[in-house]
Amino acid sequence: MAADIDFDRIPRSAVPGLLARAPKAELHMHIEGSLEPELIFALAARNGVALRHASIDALRAAYAFTDLQSFLDIYYAGASVLLHEQDFYDLAWAYFEKAAADNIVHAELFFDPQTHTARGVPIGAVIEGLSRACADARARLGVSAALILCFLRHLSEEDALATLAQALPYRGHFIGVGLDSAERGHPPGKFQRVFARCAALGLRRVAHAGEEGPPAYIEEALDLLGVARIDHGVRAVESPALMARLARERVPLTVCPLSNVKLRVVPDLAAHPLPQMLAAGLAVTVNSDDPAYFGGYLNQNLLALFDAQPRWGAREAYRLARNSLEASFAPPPAQAAWIAALDAEFRQAALWSGGRP
Ligand code: HPA
Ligand code: ZN
Repeated sequence: MAADIDFDRIPRSAVPGLLARAPKAELHMHIEGSLEPELIFALAARNGVALRHASIDALRAAYAFTDLQSFLDIYYAGASVLLHEQDFYDLAWAYFEKAAADNIVHAELFFDPQTHTARGVPIGAVIEGLSRACADARARLGVSAALILCFLRHLSEEDALATLAQALPYRGHFIGVGLDSAERGHPPGKFQRVFARCAALGLRRVAHAGEEGPPAYIEEALDLLGVARIDHGVRAVESPALMARLARERVPLTVCPLSNVKLRVVPDLAAHPLPQMLAAGLAVTVNSDDPAYFGGYLNQNLLALFDAQPRWGAREAYRLARNSLEASFAPPPAQAAWIAALDAEFRQAALWSGGRP
């Protein structure tokens, strides 16, 4: 923690504003999960794609999920309107405008190439459209952006290896690889060979683990895939030994509170394990996962989480923002500059508050 910030002087009433203004990194956001119903209908009309739902309202009404799979079915159907390079650009640009409004200074976006190549979309259209939006986000919004290619774990490792081979001509456009889709029955170890190849290529590695899957999947992701971060990881709280390891090794966990409620990983935000994880010294970060489907972008996740934690104050707000910056794959000098800006925001709040709790 920044030693010279007097967090106790910052009243709780100042915290929502601080959360919103703080420079933050988003590290767990599936770009296809930021596809809003309005854009689904606009792209369907532009591309002549028929949709199952008659209206935006009817589509939104279908967003009542019972578990991860019930969400994935709707999420993959929504992505079917994405066909051309410009569609991927428009999708990512819409997200970056929202990210800038949330004071996200750095975003690492997941994308699922197999969802698109299986429909005949060239992988180049996917990667080039997203990458062009990342370049524009840097140039026009001042948002630093990078791409992480995710393998779909319900498909085979051979399919993942073929996807990696297809993506290699675009190697300069993505910084790493991840693992997503249906977790149960698809342990990280299934992808050991493809992750080893990615490691040899110098790609960063992350994996979803411990969302619906058991704590052992988190251990597999660390030990067999060599990941630098765990996506979700909330089921770690079921294993005291794993909690101790995650704290000792300062393994970042990209936690997604609203997602976990919508997919019934937890009953409600008051019961969310993130406070327990933070208190145990884990490097937890807050993220939006699939914001168009789960009811909120990053700041809405943070505000909802704090609403459910009346005892939390400026110290926790600072910790979560700082964790997000430190857990990013951005170069250390960029991280240091963002942390300096974060410190300035909180220092200012402590000076102006007059010490009233
Ligand atoms: N879990 C697994 N796969 C996903 C998710 C998720 O939360 N969102 C998009 N693909
Ligand atoms: Zn996810």
